[in-house]
Amino acid sequence: MTIQSASSTPFAELKNKIELRQARVAVMGLGYVGLPLALLYTEQKFPVTGFDIDERKITTLLQGGTYILRIPPPEIQEARAHGFDATSDFSRLAQMDAVIICVPTPLNEYHEPDLSYITNTAKGIAPHLRAGQLVILESTTYPGTTEEVLIPILEQGNKRGLKASRAGKPNDEAFYVAFSPEREDPGNTSVARRDIPKVVGGLDPQASELAAALYGAIFSRVVPVSSPAAAEMTKLLENIYRCVNIALVNELKLLSLRMGLDIWEVIDAAATKPFGFHPFYPGPGLGGHCIPVDPFYLSWKAKEWDFRTRFIELAGEINIGMPYHVLDSVAKALNQRKKAVNGSRVLVLGVAYKRDIDDLRESPALTIIELLQAEGAQISYNDPYIPFVGKGRKYNLQMKSTPLENLGQYDCTLIVTDHSDYDYQRIVNESQLVVDTRNATRGISSPKIVRC
Ligand SMILES: NC(=O)c1ccc[n+]([C@@H]2O[C@H](COP(=O)([O-])OP(=O)(O)OC[C@H]3O[C@@H](n4cnc5c(N)ncnc54)[C@H](O)[C@@H]3O)[C@@H](O)[C@H]2O)c1
Repeated sequence: MTIQSASSTPFAELKNKIELRQARVAVMGLGYVGLPLALLYTEQKFPVTGFDIDERKITTLLQGGTYILRIPPPEIQEARAHGFDATSDFSRLAQMDAVIICVPTPLNEYHEPDLSYITNTAKGIAPHLRAGQLVILESTTYPGTTEEVLIPILEQGNKRGLKASRAGKPNDEAFYVAFSPEREDPGNTSVARRDIPKVVGGLDPQASELAAALYGAIFSRVVPVSSPAAAEMTKLLENIYRCVNIALVNELKLLSLRMGLDIWEVIDAAATKPFGFHPFYPGPGLGGHCIPVDPFYLSWKAKEWDFRTRFIELAGEINIGMPYHVLDSVAKALNQRKKAVNGSRVLVLGVAYKRDIDDLRESPALTIIELLQAEGAQISYNDPYIPFVGKGRKYNLQMKSTPLENLGQYDCTLIVTDHSDYDYQRIVNESQLVVDTRNATRGISSPKIVRC
C-alpha cells in the first residue's frame, strides 16, 4: 500500500527511485555483511557506493581485488564495471538516497556493548543528511539502539535541523529511519541469500514502506514488524535461541561422555522426529562475531529494566567453559599415553570459528591454543583458510599455518574445526593420537581417536 502518492514529496520521489532502481545506495562498512550487500544491490542495477574507514579495503576494492575469501576478485571487477564504487570520503553521502549501516558491534573488555562504531558512523553521516534520505541500521544490537542512540546523533549533528520522520507527524523536511537485521550464515550454501526473508522495522509507516521497497528489490520476501526495536529484538531472539540450544547440547555432551554415550548418535536419532525438534551440535566452544557476543547485548540492556536474563548467563557459562574441557581432554588423552601436556607437540587442525570459512573472530581455537601454551604445550596449527594468525583484540599468537605433513611428529593432533577439505582417514592413519572436538572422524574406527 502506498501511503502518500503525490510525486512531489520526498517520500514519493524516493519510492519512485527505488522502483526504477535509480536510488543511490550507500553501504557503510564493507565487511562480511556490507560488501556482499553492496554487491547484491549492484547486481540488481542500483548505483552503489561503499563507505569504509579502512583505506586498505577501499584501495583493494578500487583495484578490483578482494579481502573476503568467498568473494573472488572477478565478482568485484564485475561490480566495478557495473558502477560499484568505494570511498572513505563521507561528504559523498550527501549524494546518496539510502544509507545502510553495517558496522561492527562487539563487546568491550567488561563484556558490555561497544556501540562506538555505530556512534562514530552516525556522527559521520549526520553532517551530510538530506531531507528524504533513508537511513537503515543493520548492525546487530539491543532493542532501543536505533531510537535511543542512532537517531539522536543524526538529529543533533545535521546542520539543517532535520528530524526523523515519526508516526503521526509526517514531515517533508524529515529523513526516514529503519532497522533491519542481517541474517547471513557464513559458509552456508544451501539457501540463496535472496531467499532469506528480511525483517524490517521502520520508525514510522513511511520509513517501513521505503525500507521494504529497498530490500524487496534484492530479497524474495520482506517481513515488516511494528518498530525498529521489534526488529532489533527479532535478531537477538534468533541468536539467543542458537546460543542457548548449543549450550544445552554442550552440557548434554559432557554428561554423555561421562555415561559412555555418543551424543552425536543421540542427536541424529532425535533429529528423525518430524516435528518439535531442531538439531544443534556440540563443539569446542562458540565462535564468530554473533553467537558469543549478541546475547550479552540483551542481558546488558535488560539490567536497565531490573531484569536478569538467566538463560543467557547460563548458556554463556557453559559455552565459555568448552575450551577448558578440550584442554582437559587433551591432557587426559596424553596422560593415558604416559605423556604430559608440558613439552608435548600438539597440531591444531582448523582455527576458523567454523567449517570452510576464513573468519577467525572469537574462534574457540584461539583460546584452546592459549590454554595449551600456558600449560607448556608446543603448538602448531594448520588451516587451509587462515595462513597466518597475528594479533586480534584478545590474542597475539603470531603463528603461520604449517603444512599438513609428517603428522607422526606430533604427540597429539587436535581437530578444532572440521573443514571439509581434510582427509580424516589419512589424518588418523598418520597421527599418533587424534583428539576430535567435532565428531569429524565419524565412521572411522581407531584406538587413536578420542572424541571429546
Ligand atoms: N559476519 C556475519 O556473519 C554477521 C551476520 C549477521 C549479523 N552481523 C552483524 O553485522 C554487523 C557487521 O558485521 P561484519 O561481520 O560485517 O563486520 P566486519 O568487521 O567484517 O565489517 C565492518 C566494517 O565496518 C567498517 N567500519 C568501522 N567503522 C566504520 C565507520 N565509522 N564508517 C564506515 N565503516 C566503518 C570496518 O572497517 C569494517 O570494514 C555487526 O553488527 C554484526 O554483528 C554479522
